[in-house]
Parts: sequence; structure tokens; C-alpha cells
Amino acid sequence: MNVGDGAVRRAAALREALNKHNHRYYVLDQPSIPDAEYDQLFRELQALEAQFPALITPDSPTQRVGVAPIAGFEPAQHRVPMLSLNNAFDNDAIVAFDKRVRETLDIAEVDYYCELKFDGLAVNLTYEGGLLLRGATRGDGASGEDVTANLRTIKNIPLRLAAATVPAVLEVRGEVIMFKQDFSDLNRRQREANEKEFVNPRNAAAGALRQLDPRLTASRPLKFFAYGVGDSAGVKLPATHENLLQRLAEFSLPVNSLARVCRGVDAVLKFYRDIGAARETLPYEIDGVVYKVNRLDFQTQLGFVSRAPRFAIAHKFPAEEALTEVLGIDVQVGRTGVLTPVARLKPVFVDNVTVTNATLHNEDEVRRKDVRIGDIVTVRRAGDVIPEVVSVLLERRPPDATEFVMPARCPVCGSHVTRAEGESASRCSGGLICSAQRKQVILHFASRRAMDIEGLGDKIVDQMVDAGLIGTLADIYAVTLEQIANLERMGDKSAANLIDAINTSKHTTLQRFIYALGIRNVGESTARDLARHFGALEALLGADLQALQAVSDVGLVVAQAIVDFLAEPHNRNVIDALRGHGVVWQETEPLVKASAPGKVNGKTFVLTGTLPTLTRDDAKARIEAAGAKVVGSVSKKTDYVVVGEDAGSKLVKANELGITILDEVGLIALLKENEGTEP
Ligand code: IVH
Repeated sequence: MNVGDGAVRRAAALREALNKHNHRYYVLDQPSIPDAEYDQLFRELQALEAQFPALITPDSPTQRVGVAPIAGFEPAQHRVPMLSLNNAFDNDAIVAFDKRVRETLDIAEVDYYCELKFDGLAVNLTYEGGLLLRGATRGDGASGEDVTANLRTIKNIPLRLAAATVPAVLEVRGEVIMFKQDFSDLNRRQREANEKEFVNPRNAAAGALRQLDPRLTASRPLKFFAYGVGDSAGVKLPATHENLLQRLAEFSLPVNSLARVCRGVDAVLKFYRDIGAARETLPYEIDGVVYKVNRLDFQTQLGFVSRAPRFAIAHKFPAEEALTEVLGIDVQVGRTGVLTPVARLKPVFVDNVTVTNATLHNEDEVRRKDVRIGDIVTVRRAGDVIPEVVSVLLERRPPDATEFVMPARCPVCGSHVTRAEGESASRCSGGLICSAQRKQVILHFASRRAMDIEGLGDKIVDQMVDAGLIGTLADIYAVTLEQIANLERMGDKSAANLIDAINTSKHTTLQRFIYALGIRNVGESTARDLARHFGALEALLGADLQALQAVSDVGLVVAQAIVDFLAEPHNRNVIDALRGHGVVWQETEPLVKASAPGKVNGKTFVLTGTLPTLTRDDAKARIEAAGAKVVGSVSKKTDYVVVGEDAGSKLVKANELGITILDEVGLIALLKENEGTEP
């Protein structure tokens, strides 16, 4: 079949439109048409090309992927060598650099073009007549590997330069990177597929670029930023680096928007600080900034030394990763009883501080990363983040490296360590007696919704525990006015108030008391259900797994947590001691039979957003009074989602799952209706 004029024109129009939309979407980040419309145009072009293969051009957007795997990469000679940069690690080196530049050029102040130093892989894109003909890695600077097919899959690299007149030849230099989000998505997929995870975005990008099957590269989202030009022919280059990059942007190449011209060394150092401060929030990783003399004629005048230009310098951020040895693996007990394995490290300087410990998160993480005592590991620290072990250098593992074993007993209090099925955390079951947990346990006990001891806050609890005044919860009721008054920054009046508050708290409810014990998985609403169900503490203390699961909404996990807690004799002792100190509540008859489930009774509600009149607590109380429960997140088991202003993802989820959505008026009406129908 002959290709008609119409088809030729239509294919050209489709290519042009798709390339334009592609540029708006991937380079400018300003999509101009809906995805569905793009897909439709794309499919039309695909169909046309399938019918008339002669219509396929190398710059057709359909030609980014689809090439078959290759056996290996061909060498690719760069027309102009790819240089590297000299590195500077402190301000003094930058001041010295600026001085040299000014002296060589014999001028008072220099304009520098300041860019980000992307942490990826340098590549060289060769455009001839505006078409992307070849893409290569940096290699040794003189020649690299031909990775054209892989680079073509990168959506923000134009297959054709968008300009009426294009250079006969243009070598575009830039960096291929993987964005942080794409990196974590990729690692999630790797994890789910039981494949090895990548250490960092740079390694992931390198791996993707060196795939022999471009379809694999295409499945690993890479991005490109242009930062320079190598060879060029048939084009007059502008006078400054800034204008050169502008020109590249006009050709539809992606250039980074955070770069700017800075006059003089002070402005340059401010750029370094500004970018350093914003670094964590950037969607990609950078390892420093780069300063380039802006005027291209000055660049030529300055020239090169060996393989680095004299007109540019990289100002690196302090290293975030370093290698060191694992001297041991300790276990730390957090305030909530979670046991965290921590690698004790041979001290190493990372990101401006000496690191001696790095978290290993939990037992599974230790296994997954296969960290053993004696291993050489990569440690990472960024900003305020707790240092962590990134990976092990398996090739450097000594033969006597020993595996970590989670201890069976808490290293602080000696209680049993438990790990619930399906959970990653190992926990100390010592609860009330483990000193590591004591402070947190006391704060919870004293909190408003528990025993409500006003004035027993953070600082006082710290002091009281450190002074040895409180060992177990029961000791709260044994402290004397004098002991409290002797604490730092504690006046007689506040001491007396605290003693009053402690005494007042003795009159409580069973629900508050159960909640105050801080049993794992027993929150306020479970405490209420337990109190209602059993009516008296003795009944709860005597309940077994089965009896506990008879309580509404208590499943195996919660029941097991209660049984575990009560199985520890010291927890029982504390309960006895508290009652011995006069903590009392009104006991009631046990609930024999739950009322029949109705429209509200037994149902599950989720609240989201701000309601016009009811506070969240009010709404919750009313819903619970009607026999329903309020939970935090929307799932298939949710019956109603009550929405207020600024409702977020929960509303979206509710809509997705087709759950009944109520506003405040609807909620009140439902509750009213329910009152009328209750048996
Ligand atoms: S310019 C003539 N600019 O750093 C100067 N390089 O050691 C040649 N890099 O291999 C490089 N961001 O991978 C330049 N904005 C930037 C850069 C950058 C990252 C990398 C590049 C190069 C290495 C230089």
C-alpha cells in the first residue's frame, strides 16, 4: 500500500504535537492536555506507523522504547573530551579559587554561574541536524559506552531539538539522575519482587543506564539535566554560560531552574548556604554546587590543567556516607518498650559529625541488610536524620563476622522479649518495671484521659525518676510533699498542688484505670469496652484469651496483649499496690448481652476534617454513646465516614470504597433516628 500525502502529513502533525506535549509535561512540568488525550494521539500515531512503517522517523515518540536487547555496549568516542571538576570542601578553597581566577583574568570581580552538582552519571548527547543520534556515558573522559537506546527512553531528553534552525552538530553534556521518589518506588517494587534493593538513587540510575535491554531502562524512571556543551558546529554560541543554557532550554532540553549568576565570592558562598539549606527538600540528590566563570571567552582564557578546567570548581557538601567497621550490635530499649538493634561503629566522620552508632531499626532490617559484627558497612547521615547503616560490603566480610541475635530478655530489666506475628518490632514485656520505659509509662498514666494528674509532666517525671522517687507507677502515690518540694525549680505551692492532684486522681473510673495501665493495643475505646463488659477489675484479671475475645471489638491481638501483660507478676503487683494506695472506682454489673446491632450500634465510624459545631471529642462521644466505635483510618470495614471542612485522603478513600459519607447534620440525624429505633 502506498503512503498517501494525507498520512504523511498526519504522522508529522502527530509527532510534532506529541513531542510538544512531551516537552511541556516532562521538561516544563506544565502539562497542556489530559493524559488520556495524549494517549489517544500516541495510539493514533502507533496505528499509522504500523500501517505504513515507512512513516517511522527516529524522532517519533513511539521510538523511545521497543529496541531489542543488545549483547554489549559499543565504545563511543567523544568529539570533545569530557572533563571532570576539581573539588573544594571548604570556603577557603573557594576564596583561593576566586583569587586565582581574578588574578589570571586581571579583573576585580567575576560573575560565576552557580549550578547544582547532581549526584548521578555524566552523559554526552550528540545531536546532528537536530536529531539525537548518539548518547554515551562519560567513560574515561575521552570515550565512553554507547547507551543511545537507553538514553532514548528518558522522557525529558528530546529526540529532536525544537528550533527552526538547529546546529549541524551539538554535544550536550549533562547528568542522568533518578528522583528520590522514583528511587523509593523502585525499591518498594524490588522488595515486593524479592529482588535486591538499590543502595542509593545514583546506583539505581547507573544500573538502569547500563541495562542491555532498553525496555528495562524504560521501566526505571530516569531524568536528565543539561549543564554544558561539548563540540558544536554550525551555530554561534552565546557569550555567557547562562545564555548557553538558555539556548539549550529553547532547544527543549531540560536545564535546572535553581542555577543563577552570582557576582563575587561572597554571593557564591551565599548560594552554597542557600542550596545547602534547601537540599533535603529537593526531589533529587545533589552532592554540592558547581561554580563556573560565566563569560565563555574568560573560560577559554583560563583553560585547563590536566583534565579539569581552571574556570570551574565543585563545592561539595560534607559527605553523607562513609565506610566503617561494625564493632558490635547493641539493643536499645525505647520509651515504649520497642527494642532497637543499634550498630556500634568504629568512629567515622560523616556530614560534619563523628558517628559512633547507627540504627538498624529492627530484627528484620538486620537480616535484610545482612549486617554482621565485624562487617565493613556504608553509614549514612543527612541533616538531623539518625545515622543508619545503608549496606554491607560483602566482599570485605571477615570470616569470623558474627550474626546478630535478638535477645530473649530485655537488656534493661530482664523481662521477656516478645514479637507479635506480622509485626517487625520486638518489645520488652517489662512494661511498668522497665526503667527505660518508666518515664513514658508514668506520663501516660498521668495524662488527661487516663488518671488525669495535672502538673505531672515531662520535666517533673524526668526529675522524679532520675532522683529515684518513682520506680513503679504505685510510687506516684507514695511521694511526699517534702520530696517534691526538694526537686529543682519546684516551689512549695506547686509541690502542694501536685500532691493535691495526685490525691484527687485516686477517685477514678475503671475505664480510666485500665487505659492508664498502658497495656499495648488497649486504647481508650478498648478500655471502655473492657470496663463495660467486665464491670469489675477482678473479672478482667481472671479473663482468659477466650473470655477477652468475647468483648466487642477485642480480637486475638488485643486479647493476647492483655494476657501477656497480666502474665507478668510485677504488673499484677503494681495493680495491687495502686489499689493499696487507695485508687478506687465504682464497679458495675458485667454486661451480659450486647444490644442488637442496628443502624449505628456496632458500626464503625471514621471522622475527618473539621465539623462546623461539634468538636472531634464531642462527635466521638456521641457516636460511642450510640454503641458504635470511632477508628482512625478508612477501610472496607468502615460503615460511615463523617466529613468536615478540609477533609483529606480519608474522604477520597471513602469514595473509592463506596462508603456512606455523612456531614455533621447527617450524623446528628442518624443518631437521632437511632435513638428512636433502639430496642
Ligand atoms: S560540569 C567542564 N556541572 O560532576 C566541567 N558537572 O567531576 C565538566 N556534575 O562528571 C562538568 N553536576 O558528572 C558539571 N552542574 C554540573 C554538574 C556536574 C554534576 C558531575 C558530572 C561530572 C562531575 C565532575
